Amino acid sequence: MRALRLALAASELAPYAKTGGLADVLLGLGRWLGRPERDGGGGHDVRLFLPFYERVAKTVSDARPLPNAQQIDVRFPNRTIRFGVREGRLPQSEVPVYFVDCPELYFREGIYTDDGDESLRFAMLSRAVLETCQRLQWAPDVVHCNDWHTGLLPLYLRTTYAWDRLFASTRTLMTIHNIGYQGYFPESHLDTLGLGDQRAHVHHGDLRDKQAFSFLKTGVLHATRLSTVSRTYAREIQTPELGMGMEDLLQTRSQDLVGIVNGVDYGDWDPATDPRIPHHYTADDPSGKAKMKAALLQRFELPHDPRAPVFGVVSRLTSQKGFELFRDAIPVFLQREDMRLCVLGSGESKHEQYFQWLRDTWPEKVGVYRGFQEDLAHWIEAGSDVFLMPSRFEPCGLNQMYSLRYGTPPIVRRTGGLADTVSPWDPATQEGTGFLFDEFSSQALAGTIDWTLRNWRDRRGWRRLVQNGMRQDFSWDRQAPEYVALYRSLLDRR
Ligand code: ADP
Ligand code: GLC
Repeated sequence: MRALRLALAASELAPYAKTGGLADVLLGLGRWLGRPERDGGGGHDVRLFLPFYERVAKTVSDARPLPNAQQIDVRFPNRTIRFGVREGRLPQSEVPVYFVDCPELYFREGIYTDDGDESLRFAMLSRAVLETCQRLQWAPDVVHCNDWHTGLLPLYLRTTYAWDRLFASTRTLMTIHNIGYQGYFPESHLDTLGLGDQRAHVHHGDLRDKQAFSFLKTGVLHATRLSTVSRTYAREIQTPELGMGMEDLLQTRSQDLVGIVNGVDYGDWDPATDPRIPHHYTADDPSGKAKMKAALLQRFELPHDPRAPVFGVVSRLTSQKGFELFRDAIPVFLQREDMRLCVLGSGESKHEQYFQWLRDTWPEKVGVYRGFQEDLAHWIEAGSDVFLMPSRFEPCGLNQMYSLRYGTPPIVRRTGGLADTVSPWDPATQEGTGFLFDEFSSQALAGTIDWTLRNWRDRRGWRRLVQNGMRQDFSWDRQAPEYVALYRSLLDRR
């Protein structure tokens, strides 16, 4: 079968710009799709698009101006914005990354802002993808859009760029990584984004009820097909409980919506080779894990005792992640048990403050690092005994898959991708990879922590549990072919 021409666009891409799993997914999927078939990849012509944010400009030194794609003017009704493309390569890969170089929009402190032109910043990303293809005379078979930031692309393709025969066979896939962020802006922005005459093609209920429109809903309305990042989440977002107001719209496109569980790039996330950790180990020889535990506790300046389990948390601290369940669950254990808790996270201040309070109250047991730190995330995966992820909802989740590979059985709530990737440990059969609970309550979490601790004391069973998890395979080798099949299914659609 012929190789596909694939354009992948998103607001995040590891290692350049990352706040969460979206960045890892784009890196891993992009790398796999572009790797030659003889090396076990997909062998496709894949190109990734990312804004050249200030933080990217500071860290990437070898992105060269792409010939034929400089000084491109994009006309919006009230202003014309000029950009150029810089070309880089994904690390350990030949896959091109096209950085959209437009300082007036992207040289800001963060990836995301509350600035008045936020809608323009990401509308521009969609247009820059299409403008770059035009300059290169490169006709993608599929433009793969990810989350609300690229939600306008399918509509632009059908309107502003409909005249261009280059795109006559181009189809679009809209992947929802998180329905919690829908990209809402006032109706008046349709005019500034050059879509003023497209009111009939954005969600009419939102215009009527909120005088607003959503980038994500617009993408869902106009993309050729839709996907999300686990099978369970694909079902859940069609229900009022987890659809966040998009359930009706998604039900109408139910036939076009599929769930594909995210892959893990074990090139970056494997304790046997991970360059970010000092001690390495495998399922057959886990001795390095004990050393990682000692190193982690030393890093957090906590006393080490091999018998005391270390619980790890690495997370954005938002209501999605369910940490309010900690309030009535964790203190009891910290009071009663000889255990440690190592937390890395940043986000809502109520959660940051709560973890700080835990640290102040049990300074011998709790370590907290507030902020974003890639290598500490790897250390916590490797040095902890149990990973905590009590999410309220979770489209897929990567951290639980990382923790399985790092021999750190996860405690998760049975929702979204967590339900699809963690199976309950059963000491009778010695099967299972972690600990799950259903009800979103502190009691349910506490009961599961209690059950986990009882299993922790059964050293033989625990070793088996760890091995079961380490032997799971969520690699892109397994997951990415599902995307390829989905891309191919688009080719004969209109
Ligand atoms: P989400 O995308 O909802 O944040 P995922 O589990 O899919 O959840 O992915 C989270 C990713 O972000 C993981 O790679 C995790 O290690 C990383 N991460 C989250 N918070 C931090 C942090 N404070 N420091 C470093 N890495 C973090
Ligand atoms: C989102 C979700 C997370 C998912 C990630 C990558 O941020 O919250 O569950 O793993 O995207 O798809």
